[in-house]
Amino acid sequence: MFKVLKTEGRARRGEFSCAHGGVVQTPVFMNVGTQGAIKGGVSAHDLKEVGCQIELSNTYHLHLRPGDHIVRQMGGLHKFMDWDGPILTDSGGFQVFSLASLRKIREEGVTFASHIDGHRIFMGPEESMQIQSNLGSDIAMAFDECVENPATYEYAKASCERTARWLERCKAEHDRLNALPDTVNPGQMLFGINQGATFADLRVWHMDQIAKIDCDGYAIGGLAVGEPAEVMYEIIDAVEPHMPKDKPRYLMGVGTPSNIIEGVARGVDFFDCVMPSRNGRHGKLFTWEGTVNILNEKYATDPRPISESCGCPACRHFSRAYIRHLFKADEVLALRLAVLHNLYFYNELAARIRRALDEGTFADFRARYSGNLE
Ligand code: GUN
Repeated sequence: MFKVLKTEGRARRGEFSCAHGGVVQTPVFMNVGTQGAIKGGVSAHDLKEVGCQIELSNTYHLHLRPGDHIVRQMGGLHKFMDWDGPILTDSGGFQVFSLASLRKIREEGVTFASHIDGHRIFMGPEESMQIQSNLGSDIAMAFDECVENPATYEYAKASCERTARWLERCKAEHDRLNALPDTVNPGQMLFGINQGATFADLRVWHMDQIAKIDCDGYAIGGLAVGEPAEVMYEIIDAVEPHMPKDKPRYLMGVGTPSNIIEGVARGVDFFDCVMPSRNGRHGKLFTWEGTVNILNEKYATDPRPISESCGCPACRHFSRAYIRHLFKADEVLALRLAVLHNLYFYNELAARIRRALDEGTFADFRARYSGNLE
Protein backbone atom coordinates (compact mmCIF):
# COMPACT_ATOMS: atom_id res chain seq x y z
CA MET A 1 0.00 0.00 0.00
CA PHE A 2 2.82 2.44 0.87
CA LYS A 3 6.31 2.38 -0.55
CA VAL A 4 9.14 4.74 0.36
CA LEU A 5 11.00 5.30 -2.91
CA LYS A 6 13.75 7.58 -1.71
CA THR A 7 14.83 9.52 1.37
CA GLU A 8 16.85 12.69 1.94
CA GLY A 9 17.62 13.14 5.62
CA ARG A 10 14.31 12.30 7.29
CA ALA A 11 12.26 13.47 4.26
CA ARG A 12 10.57 10.69 2.30
CA ARG A 13 9.47 10.40 -1.31
CA GLY A 14 6.81 7.72 -1.54
CA GLU A 15 3.88 6.12 -3.32
CA PHE A 16 0.58 5.21 -1.71
CA SER A 17 -2.16 3.17 -3.34
CA CYS A 18 -5.78 2.86 -2.30
CA ALA A 19 -9.11 1.64 -3.65
CA HIS A 20 -9.81 4.67 -5.89
CA GLY A 21 -7.60 6.74 -8.14
CA GLY A 22 -4.50 4.66 -8.58
CA VAL A 23 -1.28 5.69 -6.90
CA VAL A 24 -0.88 8.84 -4.77
CA GLN A 25 2.56 10.38 -5.04
CA THR A 26 3.86 11.60 -1.68
CA PRO A 27 4.53 14.02 -0.04
CA VAL A 28 1.00 15.10 -0.88
CA PHE A 29 -1.32 17.94 0.00
CA MET A 30 -4.96 16.84 0.39
CA ASN A 31 -7.54 19.32 -0.87
CA VAL A 32 -10.31 20.02 1.66
CA GLY A 33 -13.93 19.54 0.62
CA THR A 34 -15.50 19.47 4.08
CA GLN A 35 -19.10 18.95 2.95
CA GLY A 36 -18.30 17.17 -0.31
CA ALA A 37 -17.52 20.43 -2.12
CA ILE A 38 -14.60 22.81 -1.94
CA LYS A 39 -15.62 26.16 -0.48
CA GLY A 40 -15.62 28.89 -3.11
CA GLY A 41 -17.73 27.07 -5.70
CA VAL A 42 -15.08 24.53 -6.68
CA SER A 43 -16.29 21.07 -7.74
CA ALA A 44 -14.56 17.70 -7.83
CA HIS A 45 -14.13 18.21 -11.60
CA ASP A 46 -12.17 21.40 -10.92
CA LEU A 47 -9.89 19.47 -8.57
CA LYS A 48 -8.47 17.59 -11.54
CA GLU A 49 -7.50 20.92 -13.12
CA VAL A 50 -5.60 22.11 -10.06
CA GLY A 51 -3.52 18.94 -9.73
CA CYS A 52 -5.32 17.48 -6.72
CA GLN A 53 -4.47 13.83 -6.02
CA ILE A 54 -6.62 13.23 -2.94
CA GLU A 55 -9.65 14.95 -1.43
CA LEU A 56 -10.64 15.24 2.25
CA SER A 57 -14.20 15.41 3.61
CA ASN A 58 -15.70 15.43 7.08
CA THR A 59 -17.65 12.80 8.97
CA TYR A 60 -19.17 15.34 11.35
CA HIS A 61 -20.56 17.60 8.63
CA LEU A 62 -21.82 14.88 6.30
CA HIS A 63 -23.44 13.00 9.18
CA LEU A 64 -25.38 16.14 10.14
CA ARG A 65 -26.20 17.09 6.56
CA PRO A 66 -27.34 15.44 4.33
CA GLY A 67 -26.84 12.36 6.58
CA ASP A 68 -24.43 9.52 5.83
CA HIS A 69 -27.34 7.16 5.11
CA ILE A 70 -28.38 9.43 2.25
CA VAL A 71 -24.81 9.49 0.90
CA ARG A 72 -24.73 5.69 1.14
CA GLN A 73 -28.08 5.43 -0.65
CA MET A 74 -26.65 7.63 -3.41
CA GLY A 75 -23.81 5.14 -3.91
CA GLY A 76 -21.18 6.59 -1.54
CA LEU A 77 -19.30 9.86 -1.46
CA HIS A 78 -17.23 9.26 -4.62
CA LYS A 79 -20.38 8.90 -6.68
CA PHE A 80 -22.27 11.61 -4.80
CA MET A 81 -19.67 14.29 -5.54
CA ASP A 82 -18.46 12.71 -8.80
CA TRP A 83 -14.83 12.32 -7.71
CA ASP A 84 -13.20 9.02 -8.63
CA GLY A 85 -9.89 9.78 -6.91
CA PRO A 86 -8.96 8.89 -3.34
CA ILE A 87 -10.98 10.38 -0.46
CA LEU A 88 -9.91 10.62 3.18
CA THR A 89 -12.60 11.33 5.76
CA ASP A 90 -11.75 12.94 9.06
CA SER A 91 -13.40 11.16 11.97
CA GLY A 92 -15.44 13.91 13.57
CA GLY A 93 -13.05 13.90 16.53
CA PHE A 94 -11.75 17.36 15.72
CA GLN A 95 -15.01 18.98 14.59
CA VAL A 96 -16.98 17.71 17.59
CA PHE A 97 -14.43 19.52 19.75
CA SER A 98 -14.09 22.66 17.65
CA LEU A 99 -17.64 23.25 16.31
CA ALA A 100 -20.22 21.56 18.48
CA SER A 101 -21.42 22.91 21.82
CA LEU A 102 -22.63 21.38 25.10
CA ARG A 103 -20.13 18.55 24.81
CA LYS A 104 -20.02 15.74 27.33
CA ILE A 105 -17.16 13.27 27.01
CA ARG A 106 -17.40 9.80 28.49
CA GLU A 107 -15.56 6.55 27.90
CA GLU A 108 -18.23 5.48 25.38
CA GLY A 109 -17.94 8.65 23.29
CA VAL A 110 -19.13 12.23 23.07
CA THR A 111 -22.62 13.73 23.32
CA PHE A 112 -22.91 17.16 21.75
CA ALA A 113 -25.31 19.66 20.23
CA SER A 114 -25.29 20.06 16.45
CA HIS A 115 -23.94 23.45 15.32
CA ILE A 116 -26.74 23.54 12.72
CA ASP A 117 -29.92 23.11 14.78
CA GLY A 118 -28.75 22.26 18.30
CA HIS A 119 -30.12 18.71 18.39
CA ARG A 120 -28.29 16.25 20.63
CA ILE A 121 -26.06 13.69 18.95
CA PHE A 122 -23.88 10.88 20.30
CA MET A 123 -20.69 9.90 18.52
CA GLY A 124 -18.13 7.37 19.69
CA PRO A 125 -15.54 5.23 17.91
CA GLU A 126 -18.16 2.80 16.55
CA GLU A 127 -20.48 5.56 15.27
CA SER A 128 -17.59 7.36 13.58
CA MET A 129 -16.51 4.14 11.84
CA GLN A 130 -20.11 3.41 10.78
CA ILE A 131 -20.53 6.89 9.30
CA GLN A 132 -17.20 6.70 7.45
CA SER A 133 -18.11 3.24 6.19
CA ASN A 134 -21.39 4.61 4.84
CA LEU A 135 -19.50 7.45 3.13
CA GLY A 136 -17.22 4.83 1.53
CA SER A 137 -14.03 6.88 1.79
CA ASP A 138 -10.69 5.25 0.99
CA ILE A 139 -9.11 6.29 4.29
CA ALA A 140 -11.09 6.52 7.53
CA MET A 141 -9.54 8.41 10.43
CA ALA A 142 -9.73 7.08 13.99
CA PHE A 143 -12.08 8.82 16.42
CA ASP A 144 -9.94 10.92 18.76
CA GLU A 145 -10.09 13.81 21.15
CA CYS A 146 -8.14 16.87 20.04
CA VAL A 147 -7.57 18.63 23.38
CA GLU A 148 -7.67 22.38 23.65
CA ASN A 149 -4.46 24.35 23.76
CA PRO A 150 -3.20 24.97 26.39
CA ALA A 151 -4.12 21.78 28.24
CA THR A 152 -3.03 20.60 31.68
CA TYR A 153 -0.76 17.57 31.85
CA GLU A 154 -3.37 15.62 33.81
CA TYR A 155 -6.12 16.30 31.31
CA ALA A 156 -3.91 15.58 28.27
CA LYS A 157 -2.77 12.29 29.87
CA ALA A 158 -6.28 11.05 30.65
CA SER A 159 -7.47 12.15 27.21
CA CYS A 160 -4.74 10.46 25.21
CA GLU A 161 -5.11 7.27 27.23
CA ARG A 162 -8.79 7.30 26.26
CA THR A 163 -7.94 8.08 22.62
CA ALA A 164 -5.63 5.01 22.66
CA ARG A 165 -8.52 2.85 23.97
CA TRP A 166 -10.81 4.38 21.35
CA LEU A 167 -8.41 3.30 18.60
CA GLU A 168 -8.78 -0.35 19.65
CA ARG A 169 -12.55 0.01 19.33
CA CYS A 170 -12.20 1.82 15.98
CA LYS A 171 -10.01 -0.97 14.63
CA ALA A 172 -12.42 -3.74 15.72
CA GLU A 173 -15.44 -1.93 14.28
CA HIS A 174 -13.60 -0.99 11.08
CA ASP A 175 -12.60 -4.61 10.48
CA ARG A 176 -16.17 -5.75 11.15
CA LEU A 177 -17.70 -3.20 8.76
CA ASN A 178 -15.20 -3.83 5.96
CA ALA A 179 -16.11 -7.52 6.03
CA LEU A 180 -19.87 -6.96 5.61
CA PRO A 181 -21.14 -8.14 2.20
CA ASP A 182 -22.82 -4.80 1.37
CA THR A 183 -20.11 -2.44 2.58
CA VAL A 184 -19.68 0.61 0.30
CA ASN A 185 -15.88 0.42 0.09
CA PRO A 186 -14.45 -2.92 1.29
CA GLY A 187 -10.95 -1.57 0.65
CA GLN A 188 -11.35 1.28 3.15
CA MET A 189 -8.21 1.81 5.24
CA LEU A 190 -7.83 3.12 8.79
CA PHE A 191 -5.30 5.66 10.08
CA GLY A 192 -4.63 6.08 13.82
CA ILE A 193 -4.12 9.55 15.32
CA ASN A 194 -1.44 10.54 17.82
CA GLN A 195 -2.42 12.98 20.57
CA GLY A 196 -0.84 14.23 23.80
CA ALA A 197 -1.05 18.02 23.48
CA THR A 198 2.40 19.68 23.75
CA PHE A 199 3.84 17.11 26.18
CA ALA A 200 6.59 15.17 24.41
CA ASP A 201 6.52 12.26 26.89
CA LEU A 202 2.75 11.79 26.46
CA ARG A 203 3.09 12.06 22.69
CA VAL A 204 5.78 9.35 22.61
CA TRP A 205 3.88 7.08 25.02
CA HIS A 206 0.72 7.47 22.94
CA MET A 207 2.52 6.86 19.64
CA ASP A 208 4.11 3.67 21.03
CA GLN A 209 0.64 2.46 22.12
CA ILE A 210 -1.11 3.14 18.84
CA ALA A 211 1.77 1.75 16.75
CA LYS A 212 0.95 -1.64 18.33
CA ILE A 213 -2.47 -1.54 16.64
CA ASP A 214 -2.11 -2.44 12.98
CA CYS A 215 -3.31 0.65 11.11
CA ASP A 216 -2.67 1.55 7.48
CA GLY A 217 -1.11 4.89 8.43
CA TYR A 218 -0.59 7.16 11.42
CA ALA A 219 -1.43 10.82 11.84
CA ILE A 220 -0.19 13.46 14.23
CA GLY A 221 -3.23 15.40 15.44
CA GLY A 222 -3.74 18.13 17.99
CA LEU A 223 -1.17 20.48 16.46
CA ALA A 224 -1.55 23.87 14.78
CA VAL A 225 -4.12 24.70 17.45
CA GLY A 226 -2.49 27.92 18.60
CA GLU A 227 0.95 26.76 19.74
CA PRO A 228 4.04 28.40 18.18
CA ALA A 229 5.42 26.68 15.05
CA GLU A 230 8.64 25.82 16.93
CA VAL A 231 6.65 23.84 19.51
CA MET A 232 4.87 21.98 16.71
CA TYR A 233 8.24 21.10 15.13
CA GLU A 234 9.60 19.90 18.50
CA ILE A 235 6.61 17.59 18.93
CA ILE A 236 7.04 16.15 15.43
CA ASP A 237 10.76 15.66 16.15
CA ALA A 238 9.87 13.74 19.32
CA VAL A 239 7.12 11.57 17.80
CA GLU A 240 8.53 10.77 14.36
CA PRO A 241 11.17 8.22 15.47
CA HIS A 242 8.31 6.23 17.06
CA MET A 243 6.16 6.15 13.91
CA PRO A 244 6.32 2.97 11.81
CA LYS A 245 8.72 3.60 8.91
CA ASP A 246 6.74 1.53 6.42
CA LYS A 247 3.43 3.39 6.91
CA PRO A 248 2.42 6.87 5.73
CA ARG A 249 2.51 9.76 8.23
CA TYR A 250 -0.07 12.53 8.14
CA LEU A 251 0.22 15.90 9.90
CA MET A 252 -3.40 16.99 10.38
CA GLY A 253 -4.58 20.50 9.54
CA VAL A 254 -1.11 21.85 8.64
CA GLY A 255 -0.41 24.41 7.39
CA THR A 256 1.42 27.31 5.75
CA PRO A 257 3.75 26.46 2.85
CA SER A 258 6.71 26.79 5.25
CA ASN A 259 5.04 24.48 7.79
CA ILE A 260 4.60 21.88 5.03
CA ILE A 261 8.24 22.09 3.93
CA GLU A 262 9.32 21.74 7.59
CA GLY A 263 6.91 18.82 8.07
CA VAL A 264 8.38 17.02 5.04
CA ALA A 265 11.89 17.65 6.40
CA ARG A 266 10.76 15.84 9.58
CA GLY A 267 9.44 12.76 7.76
CA VAL A 268 5.76 13.62 7.14
CA ASP A 269 4.05 12.38 3.94
CA PHE A 270 0.44 13.74 4.03
CA PHE A 271 -0.90 17.22 4.79
CA ASP A 272 -4.23 19.03 4.63
CA CYS A 273 -5.28 22.55 5.46
CA VAL A 274 -8.18 24.94 4.84
CA MET A 275 -5.69 27.76 4.35
CA PRO A 276 -5.62 27.85 0.53
CA SER A 277 -9.41 28.03 0.27
CA ARG A 278 -9.98 30.24 3.34
CA ASN A 279 -7.23 32.72 2.44
CA GLY A 280 -8.35 32.71 -1.18
CA ARG A 281 -11.86 33.68 -0.18
CA HIS A 282 -10.33 36.70 1.57
CA GLY A 283 -8.31 37.72 -1.48
CA LYS A 284 -4.96 36.44 -0.14
CA LEU A 285 -3.23 34.64 -2.96
CA PHE A 286 -0.13 32.47 -2.64
CA THR A 287 2.73 32.92 -5.13
CA TRP A 288 6.38 31.81 -5.16
CA GLU A 289 7.30 35.46 -4.70
CA GLY A 290 5.13 35.87 -1.59
CA THR A 291 1.45 36.56 -0.85
CA VAL A 292 -0.57 38.88 -3.12
CA ASN A 293 -3.45 40.71 -1.43
CA ILE A 294 -5.57 41.19 -4.52
CA LEU A 295 -7.79 43.79 -2.82
CA ASN A 296 -4.85 46.19 -2.76
CA GLU A 297 -5.46 49.39 -4.79
CA LYS A 298 -2.19 48.90 -6.68
CA TYR A 299 -3.69 45.98 -8.62
CA ALA A 300 -6.63 48.04 -10.00
CA THR A 301 -4.99 48.45 -13.41
CA ASP A 302 -2.49 45.57 -13.28
CA PRO A 303 -2.78 43.53 -16.51
CA ARG A 304 -0.57 40.66 -15.28
CA PRO A 305 -1.90 37.35 -13.98
CA ILE A 306 -1.73 36.72 -10.20
CA SER A 307 1.59 34.99 -10.86
CA GLU A 308 3.52 34.99 -14.16
CA SER A 309 4.83 31.48 -13.53
CA CYS A 310 1.48 29.91 -12.58
CA GLY A 311 -0.47 27.56 -14.86
CA CYS A 312 -3.77 27.64 -12.92
CA PRO A 313 -7.12 28.35 -14.63
CA ALA A 314 -7.21 31.88 -13.12
CA CYS A 315 -3.68 32.82 -14.19
CA ARG A 316 -4.08 31.33 -17.67
CA HIS A 317 -7.01 33.62 -18.49
CA PHE A 318 -7.47 36.59 -16.17
CA SER A 319 -5.64 39.71 -14.99
CA ARG A 320 -5.07 40.91 -11.43
CA ALA A 321 -7.21 43.95 -12.32
CA TYR A 322 -10.14 41.75 -13.33
CA ILE A 323 -9.95 39.47 -10.29
CA ARG A 324 -9.69 42.51 -7.99
CA HIS A 325 -12.75 43.98 -9.68
CA LEU A 326 -14.67 40.73 -9.10
CA PHE A 327 -13.84 40.88 -5.38
CA LYS A 328 -14.86 44.53 -5.13
CA ALA A 329 -18.11 43.82 -6.99
CA ASP A 330 -18.91 40.82 -4.75
CA GLU A 331 -19.04 38.43 -7.70
CA VAL A 332 -18.88 34.76 -6.64
CA LEU A 333 -16.45 34.19 -9.54
CA ALA A 334 -13.85 36.09 -7.47
CA LEU A 335 -13.92 33.40 -4.78
CA ARG A 336 -13.82 30.58 -7.28
CA LEU A 337 -10.79 31.95 -9.19
CA ALA A 338 -8.93 32.78 -5.96
CA VAL A 339 -9.51 29.32 -4.50
CA LEU A 340 -8.54 27.57 -7.75
CA HIS A 341 -5.33 29.58 -7.79
CA ASN A 342 -4.42 28.81 -4.17
CA LEU A 343 -5.19 25.10 -4.48
CA TYR A 344 -3.06 24.94 -7.62
CA PHE A 345 -0.25 26.61 -5.66
CA TYR A 346 -0.46 24.09 -2.79
CA ASN A 347 -0.57 21.12 -5.16
CA GLU A 348 2.35 22.62 -7.07
CA LEU A 349 4.21 23.08 -3.78
CA ALA A 350 3.85 19.36 -3.05
CA ALA A 351 4.87 18.53 -6.65
CA ARG A 352 8.00 20.70 -6.37
CA ILE A 353 8.88 19.07 -3.04
CA ARG A 354 8.57 15.64 -4.69
CA ARG A 355 10.71 16.74 -7.63
CA ALA A 356 13.37 18.08 -5.26
CA LEU A 357 13.35 14.75 -3.38
CA ASP A 358 13.59 12.83 -6.67
CA GLU A 359 16.57 14.94 -7.67
CA GLY A 360 18.20 14.91 -4.23
CA THR A 361 17.90 18.71 -3.92
CA PHE A 362 15.32 18.99 -1.12
CA ALA A 363 17.85 20.59 1.28
CA ASP A 364 18.37 23.42 -1.26
CA PHE A 365 14.63 23.75 -1.81
CA ARG A 366 14.06 23.97 1.95
CA ALA A 367 16.81 26.59 2.39
CA ARG A 368 15.33 28.67 -0.42
CA TYR A 369 11.65 28.57 0.48
CA SER A 370 11.12 27.60 4.12
CA GLY A 371 10.59 30.79 6.07
CA ASN A 372 10.13 32.80 2.87
CA LEU A 373 6.63 31.49 2.16
CA GLU A 374 4.24 32.45 4.97
N1 GUN B 1 -7.68 17.94 12.09
C1 GUN B 1 -6.73 18.76 12.58
N2 GUN B 1 -6.29 18.32 13.78
C2 GUN B 1 -6.99 17.20 14.06
C3 GUN B 1 -7.00 16.28 15.17
O1 GUN B 1 -6.28 16.42 16.16
N3 GUN B 1 -7.88 15.24 15.09
C4 GUN B 1 -8.71 15.05 14.02
N4 GUN B 1 -9.53 14.02 14.01
N5 GUN B 1 -8.72 15.90 12.98
C5 GUN B 1 -7.86 16.95 13.00
